[in-house]
Amino acid sequence: MKLPRNFYKPLAIGAPEPFRELPVRLERMIHFVPPQMEKIRAKVPDLVREVDVLLGNLEDGVPADAKVTARQGFIEMARSVEFGATGLWVRINSLSSPWALDDVTEIMGAVGGELDVIMLPKVEGPWDIHYLDQLLAQLEAKYALTHPILIHAILETAEGVMNVEVIASASPRLHGLSLGPADLAASRAMKTTRVGGGHPDYKVLADPGAGTRAAYQQDLWHYTIGRMVDACAANGLKPFYGPFGDFSDPEGCEAQFRNAFLQGCVGAWSLHPSQIEIAKRVFSPDPKEVAFAQRILQAMPDGTGAALIDGKMQDDATWRQAKVIVDLARRVAAKDPARAGLYQF
Ligand code: GLV
Ligand code: MG
Repeated sequence: MKLPRNFYKPLAIGAPEPFRELPVRLERMIHFVPPQMEKIRAKVPDLVREVDVLLGNLEDGVPADAKVTARQGFIEMARSVEFGATGLWVRINSLSSPWALDDVTEIMGAVGGELDVIMLPKVEGPWDIHYLDQLLAQLEAKYALTHPILIHAILETAEGVMNVEVIASASPRLHGLSLGPADLAASRAMKTTRVGGGHPDYKVLADPGAGTRAAYQQDLWHYTIGRMVDACAANGLKPFYGPFGDFSDPEGCEAQFRNAFLQGCVGAWSLHPSQIEIAKRVFSPDPKEVAFAQRILQAMPDGTGAALIDGKMQDDATWRQAKVIVDLARRVAAKDPARAGLYQF
């Protein structure tokens, strides 16, 4: 194990210092675009004003014969578009693929200075993080980058879930984790062809009695999201729900995003433009909740003691819960003028 005093040292001479705390950024959705498609690339300057994070996807979904075009398209996009406060991320191919090394070296050489985060798929254990961590430090030094490129790991294999705690504490370069329900379902041999969301056969049946027995669909991802959220929170990282593949079911998407939000996730992937607004709605706190949370903070200005508000007991712990909600609302208000008016600050 690395000694504590070495943990925050740059891994290459000339590489920037790793962050001790993640930069504070609102990241309600990571919007995926296929950079091999010129028609979609042309829409990116408009999309950048709509989304919190824009990600060029080089991995699954890009045909093998378009991998190099996608990488070049991403570089072209990073060079030509002004991203401003919107995060620029790339999902590279997995470390076991023939494309990953060139993805990293070519992108870092061409547009490393514009890039915020590399999303790394199919992370199995801390060794995957250590490999990319070292390589990025060498490239940061080589290209004299002044800010560290962060790594966001996708949790999408059974081995990765088994190792989630050690993955989350592997490096100060980590930004967060996303649940990848499609690959994870395949890796675990779950019997579903859906990309995220529930399944009508995964349910609890009410006791037998008179009449039809009620059936309640359960959340297939609850256990994994819980483990991911704890691993992230304990290490100061950000947890995300990943993709919801049924674009014809916005309500299902919203319900899945909301479960993740309530469990502690800060955002989700949007694979279709219609999911951007869903993510904004879900991952910006409800104005009524914010107003109530503000009353809790006001009732206990120093965060200690006890109070009764509308018949509900408040104490130091609920003050901390309220602060989570109000702090998030302040970040939303600062970034998203359309929502700022909904919160009474
Ligand atoms: C995402 O990459 C997934 O496999 O769900
Ligand atoms: Mg995947």
